[in-house]
Amino acid sequence: MNNNYLDVLTNDHLLIEKALLLLEKESKKAEKMNVSMVKTLIEFLDEYGDKCHNMKEEKIYFPLLLERGLPPQGPIGVMLQEHQMEREFLDKLKETINDIEKDSSTSLRMTNEFANSVAGYEELTKSHIWKENDILYPMGKHVITHDDETYLYNEFIKIESETAGAGAYERYVVQINTFEKQTGQRIDLLSAISTEIMTNMLDSIPVELSFVDADDRVRYFNKIYEKKIFTRTLSVIGRTVQQCHPQKSVHLVTQIIEEMKAGKRDEASFWINFESMFVHISYYAVRNENGEYQGVVEMVHDVKPYRELEGEKRLLD
Ligand SMILES: [Fe+2]
Ligand SMILES: [Fe+2]
Repeated sequence: MNNNYLDVLTNDHLLIEKALLLLEKESKKAEKMNVSMVKTLIEFLDEYGDKCHNMKEEKIYFPLLLERGLPPQGPIGVMLQEHQMEREFLDKLKETINDIEKDSSTSLRMTNEFANSVAGYEELTKSHIWKENDILYPMGKHVITHDDETYLYNEFIKIESETAGAGAYERYVVQINTFEKQTGQRIDLLSAISTEIMTNMLDSIPVELSFVDADDRVRYFNKIYEKKIFTRTLSVIGRTVQQCHPQKSVHLVTQIIEEMKAGKRDEASFWINFESMFVHISYYAVRNENGEYQGVVEMVHDVKPYRELEGEKRLLD
């Protein structure tokens, strides 16, 4: 982590959101819910989310914003109210999960009650995080000085070690990642998007992409029906990359893939003059969360228009 006060706050938010997602999924399992995991998640949301993260805001960040001229009744007032509402939800969650743990014949009524509280807490906290990330923090950036940034960062680290112990954030990251692996609940945003939209999305960007799997077979390329910098036809799908690369560059591709498989390389790039274009070609290793090789993405791009840019463009054409 770098020494940026805003990264501290937004990284906290991301971790809280991950915990919320795990808690939501677990709470829907009714009597099959993993009570000890749920207790640890609630403990994190209380001990870290409230007593550490919210205190960074309440004790350090909000007072500084007020000092720099933000009104007390505006967004800061709303955020403080919401922190209080979050606390009330957390008290309720702690109480219900303790009852569930004590009672060996956990009833459906209790688990339903728990799931409802989780849903209410999640809705409130998600919208709270959104308001801070997208409204309050950008407002804050306009009023705080360079020196304030250093002050905020140092005070945040101090509060963290006072409330949750030094290195608390890193410890909780490991904990929550472990839960994600255990439950197979790694955040998967793409599952909410249809293949059609995904295809159109990848076709809409001015970049040519291909994917070669771990057995060196071409499995995907975008812009199937469009004219591309390097022609590709559907017949390459399923063929090995060595079979469909020009002879003069095949040894390079093979070397890149071998080095990626051996874990010695994650990226390779080249740039060439081609027809009237300046073509950038790059390869990125695709790995799973354990670092195992799953294939390689090739990205081909005419970067000539970018090389000609000067100054800034901030207005819409
Ligand atoms: Fe907050
Ligand atoms: Fe926050």
